[in-house]
Amino acid sequence: MKSYEKLLAANKEWAENVVKNDPDFFNRLLNVQTPEFLWIGCSDSRVPPNEITQTHPGEIFIHRNIANMVVHTDLNMLSVLEYAVNVLKVKHVVVCGHYGCGGVKAAMTRHSVGIINKWLRNIKDVYRFHRDEIDTIADEEARTNKLIELNVQEQVMNLAKTSIIQKAWKDRQAPQLHGWVYDLHDGIINPVFEMEAGAHLDPLYEFDNL
Ligand code: CO
Repeated sequence: MKSYEKLLAANKEWAENVVKNDPDFFNRLLNVQTPEFLWIGCSDSRVPPNEITQTHPGEIFIHRNIANMVVHTDLNMLSVLEYAVNVLKVKHVVVCGHYGCGGVKAAMTRHSVGIINKWLRNIKDVYRFHRDEIDTIADEEARTNKLIELNVQEQVMNLAKTSIIQKAWKDRQAPQLHGWVYDLHDGIINPVFEMEAGAHLDPLYEFDNL
């Protein structure tokens, strides 16, 4: 059996098992999805959102990209955010990074990786904002992990800078924003940053006419 055929066979087995355990499962999800969470995570194959949180289809709306970035010109991310916040009305938005993230590691080097340079430059900016704090750490891995945590924090703040989030905070006092970092060593998620609805950021980024 070819490797991709294993996926299809496994899928068939999965669908059969789901129905066996919960005959109404697919009917329930057929016409409606009401996830409480939007997850913005890294594309890394070792950080599967549903598996590490023991959640099921229908529970988490998911957007993934290299190094879990919230880039304010990214139409893809913005469309997902808009839909999750204004149509699905999620209560929580989670930005989940992970220690040992290859995207963050690459951004800390001076090595060119082609078109990905343009994406990684957003992470280099985070490094530059926090250079004093990061560069005091002697150990290379600890330095990388610090940037990974600060990057997650920065991406949560990037969410708060959007008119989408600010309008939702004003209209329905939600969603709450969370910055988490997953540890590949033990599978544990470490919460590192949070913003409640209505939290303040630099006034320069707060719209006064929403
Ligand atoms: Co990663």
